[in-house]
Amino acid sequence: MTSRRKFMTILGGGVILAAGGIGGWATSRDPAGARKPWETAKALDAGASGDLRIFALSHAILAPNPHNRQPWLADLSTPGEITLHFDTTRRLPETDPYDRQLTIGLGCFVELLTMAAAETGYRAEVRLFPEGEPQPLLNERPVAHIRLIADSTVERDPLFAQVFARHTNREAYDTARPVAAATLDPIAAAARTARIDHATGTEEVAALRALSWEAMEIELRTYRTMKESVDLMRIGKAEIEANPDGISLVGPLNEGLDLLGLMDRQAMLDPGSMVFTEGMKAQKVQFDTAMGFLWLTTPANSRADQIAAGRDYVRMHLAVTEAGLALQPFSQALQEYEEMAGKYADMRTALRISDNETLQMFVRLGYGPGIRPAPRWPLTTRIRSA
Ligand SMILES: Cc1cc2nc3c(=O)[nH]c(=O)nc-3n(C[C@H](O)[C@H](O)[C@H](O)COP(=O)(O)O)c2cc1C
Repeated sequence: MTSRRKFMTILGGGVILAAGGIGGWATSRDPAGARKPWETAKALDAGASGDLRIFALSHAILAPNPHNRQPWLADLSTPGEITLHFDTTRRLPETDPYDRQLTIGLGCFVELLTMAAAETGYRAEVRLFPEGEPQPLLNERPVAHIRLIADSTVERDPLFAQVFARHTNREAYDTARPVAAATLDPIAAAARTARIDHATGTEEVAALRALSWEAMEIELRTYRTMKESVDLMRIGKAEIEANPDGISLVGPLNEGLDLLGLMDRQAMLDPGSMVFTEGMKAQKVQFDTAMGFLWLTTPANSRADQIAAGRDYVRMHLAVTEAGLALQPFSQALQEYEEMAGKYADMRTALRISDNETLQMFVRLGYGPGIRPAPRWPLTTRIRSA
C-alpha cells in the first residue's frame, strides 16, 4: 500500500521516491540485454580477419528507424554480397501507409553499412531495387544488392565516430540554451543529396512547436493510429528484452505503474482516462522544449528518393551528435493518412515546401541530457540465410 501511494504521487506529477528497498529494485530494471548489440558492434575490430559483412551489418542495425521496427533482413547467401530485404511483418499501416518512413529507415541502414565498410577499406557498391521499385508498398523483392569491394582509395568518414553516441533523445531540452543558426550550417552540409533547412528564431520556433503539437494530438486522439503505437509498447525490462523493438517504456517508474495496473493498454486508448491525460502531458514537454527545428526534403518521392533521404537523415543526425546537440523527429504532420491531411498541408506551408518537393523528415533540436541506447534485435535474428 505504501508503494502504491508513492506511485500515485508520481503519477500526479510529484517526485520519484526511492525509499526502503525500491532503490535496489530500480537499478536492476535496466534492459541491458536489449542494448547488447551496441556493445557487440563496439567490441568489433575493423582490422580483424573474418567476414567483414558482419562488421558492416553490426553497425547498420544501429540505424534509426520508425518506431524502432528494425525492418531489415540481410541475405548473405552470395559471398562478398549482401542482399537487403524489407521484413514485410514489420509494417506501420496506420501511420506509414505507403512504407515511406520504413524506407527512410532502410536508407539509414544502407548509409551506416557503407560507412562501416569504409572503415575496413571496402567500398560498398549499392544497387537499389534491382528488380524494380515496389509501389505502392514494399514487398519481398530486394531493396538493395550491396557488393563490398576492396578499394585502397575509399575514404573513411569522420561522422562514423558518432555512431555509438547517436540516439533519439525524447527528454526535455534545456530551454535556457538557444540553438544558434550558425551551429546548424555545417550540419545541413552533411547531406549529400537532400535539402536540409532549419528554424531557430523565437517566433518561428513557437509556431512550429504549436503546429507539430497539434499534429501529435491528432495522432494520439485517432484511435487506430494511437492503437498502432500502444500495440508496439514494451513496458519494462522483461517485455523489452523479450521484444527489443517498438516503443520501449524503460525504468522503475514505468514498471512500477505497470505493476500497479496503471499502464493498462485499453485505458491508454481512452482520452477520458488518467493514463491518457498523463501521457499527453508527458509528451507535450517534448514540444514545449524544442529549441530549434531541422527538416529534410527530396526533389521527388520515389523509393530511391526515400532511401537517399534516409542516408542523409542519419548523416544529419550524426552531425547533430558531433555538435553536442540532441534531436527527436516529430513525424506526425508528415504522415499520409486522412485525419492528418490538414496539418500535413499546414506544415508544408509553414516550412515553405514547394509543390514538387517531398518533406521527408522534421525534427526538434536542443541541448538535452545524456540517454541510453535504444534496444536492438541481435544481428543473428536479422540474417535470413547465412
Ligand atoms: C523515418 C523516421 C521517423 C521517426 N519518427 C519519430 C517520431 O515521430 N518520434 C520519435 O520520437 N522518434 C521518431 N523516430 C526515431 C525512432 O523512433 C528511433 O530511431 C528508434 O526508436 C531507434 O532509436 P535510436 O534512434 O535512438 O537508435 C523516427 C525515425 C525515423 C527513421
